[in-house]
Amino acid sequence: MIEIVKTVAQMRSIIAKWRAEGASIGLVPTMGFLHEGHASLIDASKAQNDRTVVSDFVNPIQFAPNEDLESYPRDMEHDAALVEAHGGDIIFNPEPEEMYRGGFSTFVDMTVLTEELCGLSRPTHFRGVCTVVTKLFNIVRPDRAYFGKKDAQQLAVIKHMVDDLDMGIEIVGCPIVRENDGLAKSSRNTYLNESERKAALVLSKAIKLGSELVKNGERDCAKITAAMKELIEAQPLARIDYVKIVNAADMQQITVIDRPSLCALAVYIGKTRLIDNFFTQDIIGEV
Ligand code: PAJ
Repeated sequence: MIEIVKTVAQMRSIIAKWRAEGASIGLVPTMGFLHEGHASLIDASKAQNDRTVVSDFVNPIQFAPNEDLESYPRDMEHDAALVEAHGGDIIFNPEPEEMYRGGFSTFVDMTVLTEELCGLSRPTHFRGVCTVVTKLFNIVRPDRAYFGKKDAQQLAVIKHMVDDLDMGIEIVGCPIVRENDGLAKSSRNTYLNESERKAALVLSKAIKLGSELVKNGERDCAKITAAMKELIEAQPLARIDYVKIVNAADMQQITVIDRPSLCALAVYIGKTRLIDNFFTQDIIGEV
């Protein structure tokens, strides 16, 4: 059975042993309830590193009080089996009290990149993400860390943080893994009932529509997002949080696609908030 490490001290001693052996280390940070999206990150880490650590920690400080911290799905047995099947070496699964010991009061915050998209609707979210990822980096000291393009703003934020703070860790972005019908895999998909699961297809349909418009030469952001919004609004169970196109470098809104850009959306299906996106570079290359 794969080893599940609960304390920072224990994790550090394993890392020290691996380092003494000269092993390279990859880290896959997750909040658990693992699926094939997470598995693809483990596979990518396995391919590039001698050892792979998967952290499995539902990070309380990235949830706002009105969000789903309490109900966030958890299944350690399933997670352990998935990590083992994909050849991960260790699961780091600390309790919140181990990560945020009494008197915890230091946070990593970021301006600009966190001010649009999910940062607008979740103002404390990225501070929680940057803080926990910094802690994980300090505990594991990986050579490389793996993040999904599913959370495109998070990927950009982490890359920027590593550069700003000279963390010296290679950040590898991995493609979005989807269900057969197109829905991006997410631990939160488990919240959807049958009719919501069908309705949730509007996210990937809108992404497909937007990317086809870009592929066919449309560069006017307002036109692209209007068409995507119209498609989503036709679904009665869907409520749009945002549909936007931003500069991929700084996450600021743009009006014309004249540089590498990110088209991102967040949509509530019933009470469940889901996200999806595409990078224009992945469709038309650098413009
Ligand atoms: P979580 O939502 O569990 O996601 C962990 C990683 O898996 C993230 O890098 C995310 O982008 C990636 N991922 C999720 N679904 C994916 C999919 N369908 N295809 C490809 N990659 C996918 O993101 C977090 O946790 C947290 O914010 C974390 C970084 C762990 C900090 O707490």
